[in-house]
Amino acid sequence: VYRYGFEGVIFKMPESQKTKIAVIGTGTWSTNMHQPVLKRLIAEDLIEVVGACDLREDAAASYARELHCQDVFTDPATMIEKTDPQGVIILVPTVVSAELIRQVAALGKPFMVEKPPAPSSEEHQQLIDIVGDLTHLVAYNRRHSPYITKARELIAQEKIQVLSCHFSRSRRRDPDFSTTAVHAIDTMRCLAGDWARMRLESCWTGEVLNFFIDGWTVEGARIDLQITPDTGSGEEHYFIRTHEANVFVVFPHWSLADYPGYVEVRRGKIECQRFGPAEMDLDPNDRALLSGIYHEHLAFLRALRGEEPAASTLRTTLQTQVIREELKKVIDSGQRKMLVEVSF
Ligand SMILES: NC(=O)c1ccc[n+]([C@@H]2O[C@H](COP(=O)([O-])OP(=O)(O)OC[C@H]3O[C@@H](n4cnc5c(N)ncnc54)[C@H](O)[C@@H]3O)[C@@H](O)[C@H]2O)c1
Repeated sequence: VYRYGFEGVIFKMPESQKTKIAVIGTGTWSTNMHQPVLKRLIAEDLIEVVGACDLREDAAASYARELHCQDVFTDPATMIEKTDPQGVIILVPTVVSAELIRQVAALGKPFMVEKPPAPSSEEHQQLIDIVGDLTHLVAYNRRHSPYITKARELIAQEKIQVLSCHFSRSRRRDPDFSTTAVHAIDTMRCLAGDWARMRLESCWTGEVLNFFIDGWTVEGARIDLQITPDTGSGEEHYFIRTHEANVFVVFPHWSLADYPGYVEVRRGKIECQRFGPAEMDLDPNDRALLSGIYHEHLAFLRALRGEEPAASTLRTTLQTQVIREELKKVIDSGQRKMLVEVSF
């Protein structure tokens, strides 16, 4: 007998039922955030890592060693053929992800892939067609993070009036910040549903390109998003207002000043309740847990075992990709000020 869910493992899996996982891509994010989770899932007897693959054989070998795995590869197709995993985890740069999804899907292997899963919405749509009903999960980690899950519980069944997000970073003048800003877009969609209309303004303030999005969801919630990559300090705050509750999420991204964050609910004019790591029994030093990586792996395992379909799929995250692409077009245009209006 076993059970594992949002709370983590309650009963352990019998040895024979461990899920066989193979990993492609053992770079920075994979090592810092996914490897600790894989270690934990191995310790919880839920999985066995049967292969690790990277173009850099040394990196794959040291990654595999940490996970008690002997089999190291530099070619994904060879790894899949030799190890026959039940699930493949794709943790490579976005420009490579789409090709690997094609390869993995052609071999009929369920997969989890880091966000965004393709460099364009056109390629994303092609992947939807290729992948069909094959089990997969697109790893937008915030969807699975304990605070966002808590926020969704706190407003369950209620109509959102307004959803705002301040998504700031410090000294992040990346050539393409859209692949980071995509987190705010996807989290807002996860909280309030698909968007019906948006207005995107971009403007260079001095040497910094900022983005401001407002619009409406299909359900009629007003959305308001500020994306500011280079400010005094990073913050990622979500504000959700319904008739009964105002919910405030201080998202626990490891590089932000207000880590480890909290969720707060305010009701009845003055009543206020805060849920942080202590109240939610979460380890404040466990970045992968707080940011949602552990629970996204659990969601993938539940999908692999046919217990619960993954909610974060290529199909359900297509609009996230379309909105991200609007940001990218603005960046590529090089214009100092732009206003774009989109109806979906
Ligand atoms: N969820 C988040 O907040 C978050 C944060 C950072 C990165 N990411 C995502 O994680 C992914 C990986 O990012 P990273 O920072 O680890 O990148 P990285 O450049 O540090 O590592 C990527 C690794 O993939 C390997 N690789 C590339 N092509 C390959 C191939 N064909 N076969 C096997 N290995 C291959 C490279 O050798 C490298 O080791 C990206 O998709 C990125 O968008 C997500």
